[in-house]
Amino acid sequence: MTTTRGVLHRWGPVLPLTENTPRLTLGEGETPLVRSTYLERECGLDELWFKLESCNPTGSFKDRGMVVAVARAVEEGSKAIMCASTGNTSASAAAYAARAGLDCHVLVPGGRVAIGKLAQAVAFGCKIVEVDGNFDEALNAARDLTERHPISLVNSVNPNRIAGQKTAAYEIVHDLGDAPDFLAIPVGNAGNITAYWKGFTECAERELATLHPRMLGFQAAGAAPLVHGEIVETPDTVATAIRIGNPASWDTAIAARDESHGAIEAVTDEEILEAYRLLARNEGLFVEPASAAGVAGLLKRHRESRTEGGRAVAILTGNGLKDLDTALSQYEAQRTQADTTVESIEQALGL
Ligand code: F0G
Repeated sequence: MTTTRGVLHRWGPVLPLTENTPRLTLGEGETPLVRSTYLERECGLDELWFKLESCNPTGSFKDRGMVVAVARAVEEGSKAIMCASTGNTSASAAAYAARAGLDCHVLVPGGRVAIGKLAQAVAFGCKIVEVDGNFDEALNAARDLTERHPISLVNSVNPNRIAGQKTAAYEIVHDLGDAPDFLAIPVGNAGNITAYWKGFTECAERELATLHPRMLGFQAAGAAPLVHGEIVETPDTVATAIRIGNPASWDTAIAARDESHGAIEAVTDEEILEAYRLLARNEGLFVEPASAAGVAGLLKRHRESRTEGGRAVAILTGNGLKDLDTALSQYEAQRTQADTTVESIEQALGL
C-alpha cells in the first residue's frame, strides 16, 4: 500500500507538479499546531500557537520543500543532487536522495554543524564535504559546481523548495480557520520567511484567509545581515542553523517584511537560549537553538512593551535532538548520580 500522506499528495494542486512528477514521500507535512500553555502570557499574546515542524521525517521543515525539489529532479532525469547546508538541508536532501535512488553531495561548514545533523547525512549515505569556510562560501561553491556538472542544486534558490515550504502556511490557515495576526520565524538564508509569505499571500488570494499575518523574522545578533542591511563576513551564533551572513533570499525576505508591515529583528544568543530552555521546561517542546529564535523575539518584543495582543504562530523549525552538545551544556546541573538503593536515589532526588 502506498501512503496517502505527504506534501505532494495533500498540496499537489498548489505545487509546480506535472502528471509525470513521481509522488515521492516520506510522510512529510501535516505537522501539529499546538497551543501554548505558558509562553502565551509571557509574550503578551491572546493566543500563541506552535507549528511543530520538528515533527517532519528528518526533524525539520526542510522536508516540505525537499520532497518537491527531489521529485522534480527525478522527473527531469537528474541522477544527483547537491546542496550547501548548515545541517538540516543536508539531512533532508540525503534522506530524499536515498528514497529516490539519487546520489547526494553536501557541502557543510567544517566543524560548525550540529552532530545529529551530520549523523543523519552519514546514515543516509551521502557524500559530505566539510569546507574550510562558512555557509555563504559553501553555497557559492555549490552554485558553481552545479553549473559545471549535471547535478541539481536543491538549496532554497531552487524555486521548488520555496513552493514546497509554502504549504505550511496553507496548513496553518486550514487549522486555525484563518491566517494569524503574527507569524514569528527564525531567519537564516531567508527561504522560509519567503515561502510562508508566498503561502499566506496565496491563501488570501484564494479567499481561504481574510487577513495577512505580520511577518516577524528573527536573526541571531551575530548573524543579522537583514537587520543591519549589510553582509556579515564572519557570522557567529550558538544557533548554528542560522549562522549565515549573506542570505540567498535577501530581497524576498525584505519584501515579506515590508508588504506584511512586519519586522526583521535580532535576538542575542542569551535570548535564544533562554527561549530554548523555556520551551523545553515550560511547554515540553525540545527544539534546536535556531528554532527558539522566533519565540525569543516574541518575548523580547513584549518585554520592550511592543506587543498588542492578538494571535501569533511561532514556527518551531527543527528538533532538539539534532544538537545534543548545546542541550547538554544547558542542562548539566540537573544530573546527579546514585547507587541502586532506594535511600541513595531518595537522597539524589531530595525526597
Ligand atoms: N531553523 C532551522 C532549524 C534551520 O535549519 C534553518 C536553516 C532556519 C531555521 C532558517 O531558515 O534559511 O530558510 O531562513 N537552515 C539551512 C540549512 C540554512 O542549511 O539547513 P532559512
